Amino acid sequence: MNTLEWSDALVLGFEPMDRMHREFVALLGQAQSANDAQLPSAWSAIVDHTARLFERESQWMRKTHFAGATDHMLQHRVVLNLLRDGLAMTRRGNLPPVREMAQELATWFVKHTQSLDAALAVHLRGQAETSLRRSSA
Ligand SMILES: [Fe+2]
Ligand SMILES: [Fe+2]
Repeated sequence: MNTLEWSDALVLGFEPMDRMHREFVALLGQAQSANDAQLPSAWSAIVDHTARLFERESQWMRKTHFAGATDHMLQHRVVLNLLRDGLAMTRRGNLPPVREMAQELATWFVKHTQSLDAALAVHLRGQAETSLRRSSA
């Protein structure tokens, strides 16, 4: 089984987001290689981290009036609901669909990072430069 690994292709250049994405990749890699006894807690760690990551991204979008916020937050909501369904499955001992979900999550994460998050990172980098210019003017 291929586990998700961090690579330069996932670096967006907005460090607070890159840091949380690196943690996400590490946690998902652990879940992908977890045995049956480890999977429930590994999955629970992913759900917690993902909820924090999405909340953080939402805060950045709201604070900077990001134009693509609605679609981006909708996608987060759909994914987080699925991950929570997966958590309920691990609690019932139904692990195969969660292993499948982990693979789909890895594919989704790469796509999402390189599209919606990449657009957000460009926007946030621009905002950071603007406020730096303002504070040094
Ligand atoms: Fe993200
Ligand atoms: Fe995102």
